[in-house]
Amino acid sequence: MTKIGLAVLISGRGSNLQSLIDACASADFPAEIKLVICNIPSVFGIERAEKAGIPVAVIPHKDFPSRETFEQAMLDEIAKYPVDLVCQAGFMRIVTPTFISPWRGRLINIHPSLLPKFKGLHTHERAIEAGETEAGCTIHYVNEGVDEGEIILQKSVPVLPDDTPDTLAARVLEKEHIAYPEAVRLLAQNILEKQ
Ligand code: GRF
Repeated sequence: MTKIGLAVLISGRGSNLQSLIDACASADFPAEIKLVICNIPSVFGIERAEKAGIPVAVIPHKDFPSRETFEQAMLDEIAKYPVDLVCQAGFMRIVTPTFISPWRGRLINIHPSLLPKFKGLHTHERAIEAGETEAGCTIHYVNEGVDEGEIILQKSVPVLPDDTPDTLAARVLEKEHIAYPEAVRLLAQNILEKQ
């Protein structure tokens, strides 16, 4: 089966990366991960990639004088592999046009809220404070706005009366792990049809 190549960008524990690794293990999943880039040394997501035998590039943003030079280093790394789609999965850096322009329409992110609600950080805490009865996650294209790109798909969960940010985060995370492979499958089919 023809598959598209993914680069997955992470900053931490990498449970969304794991959901993509697991999905890619199926013969009928139309994508494979060619490369993982991590901007924080020694996080657990790196071990997940290594265990799966996927090349990992640790590119600490702190080693670079600017966002743009950091992003250029990521672009140079991605260029070494046959990548069709770049997936930000718990990647905690805002990217600039340096990175977005070459990948526009092929750069996606997962956000733990039902966008356009609760862009940015502390989404679960804010959803509970706002009295929301529904929360969830969104897979969206990345553009120059923070969490503002076109929505690809969303999955929702109820907010329960006794929820804390942690219990809600756990419920949303389960949906994230379903949503990301689903979105990649959808986009892979589109990309393969155009090839
Ligand atoms: C996820 O909730 C993701 O939506 C958010 O950060 C978290 C990352 O988790 N942007 P993980 O590293 O994928 O486990």
